[in-house]
Amino acid sequence: MNNIKHLIDPMDLSIMELEDILGLANDIMKNPKEYSHLLSGKILATLFYEPSTRTRFSFEAAMMKLGGNILGFSEPNSSSVSKGESLSDTIKIVSTYADIIAMRHPKEGSAKVATIYSSVPIINAGDGGHQHPTQTLTDLLTIKSLKENLEGHVIGICGDLKFGRTVHSLIKAISRYKNNKIILISPEELTIPQYIRDEILIKENIPFIEVERLEDVIDKLDILYMTRVQKERFFNEEDYIRLKDSYILDQSKMSKAKKDMIVLHPLPRVNEIAQEVDKDPRACYFKQAEYGMYVRMALILKLLEVR
Ligand code: NCD
Repeated sequence: MNNIKHLIDPMDLSIMELEDILGLANDIMKNPKEYSHLLSGKILATLFYEPSTRTRFSFEAAMMKLGGNILGFSEPNSSSVSKGESLSDTIKIVSTYADIIAMRHPKEGSAKVATIYSSVPIINAGDGGHQHPTQTLTDLLTIKSLKENLEGHVIGICGDLKFGRTVHSLIKAISRYKNNKIILISPEELTIPQYIRDEILIKENIPFIEVERLEDVIDKLDILYMTRVQKERFFNEEDYIRLKDSYILDQSKMSKAKKDMIVLHPLPRVNEIAQEVDKDPRACYFKQAEYGMYVRMALILKLLEVR
């Protein structure tokens, strides 16, 4: 066993470490120049076995803004994966070339498996329908920046709560902060997995309710976290088609919400937020994507123990 620090699950970070990363991200946003050469000579590998726009680009931009370099693939068929190379062999090799690895894989648990074979820190950039801890860091930095703190909010999480890995990670992380109330909004078939209900919400005594209609609760929310129905995780297309338009946030629904509610979304959006909402000052999802890069800069520095 070695002492390499990985980020596979949001709970891998203590609250202190989490606060440190958010604080560091804040400082980077204020003084980006001070950080622009810290990782010169270091390499980040991005191994993406599943599609991505924001996560991969923001990791790569983060590394470049710290003065480091990047290598990797965005399409496993362009690497030896297409010849049948195992994840363990790929990780063994890449970890001899790179100083840190961010990986996304369709199989739940794959990032954890990678830690067994890696000689450098592994960051889970999404493992199937399981966890997505760096999206959660992004979400926390966004909430902290726009709502001042991470406590005392009524948070509505809406959409595909079953397969949405960002939802699972966000619930885990937010459960560590005081006085939040969670309203879970989903169709019956897309409610949160039982382990999140039992091992996090019930065990940690987090006040939560589960409802089906966004209209019934939108006026109570301080934060509305919308999500996409995760097409790629469905076993049959018919179910996806039936459920994909369960929620469409539009201006008429927004008119019932608090004046200072913020709308977040990990993106990509399909049609769960109408474009007309984009110009509403409460729509913060594009700003959220920007925070993602800064928090990944902070995370890379922290895992490489540079700051
Ligand atoms: C999310 C993901 O990959 O889980 N996207 C992202 O990283 N911002 C959300 C999604 O794909 O719906």
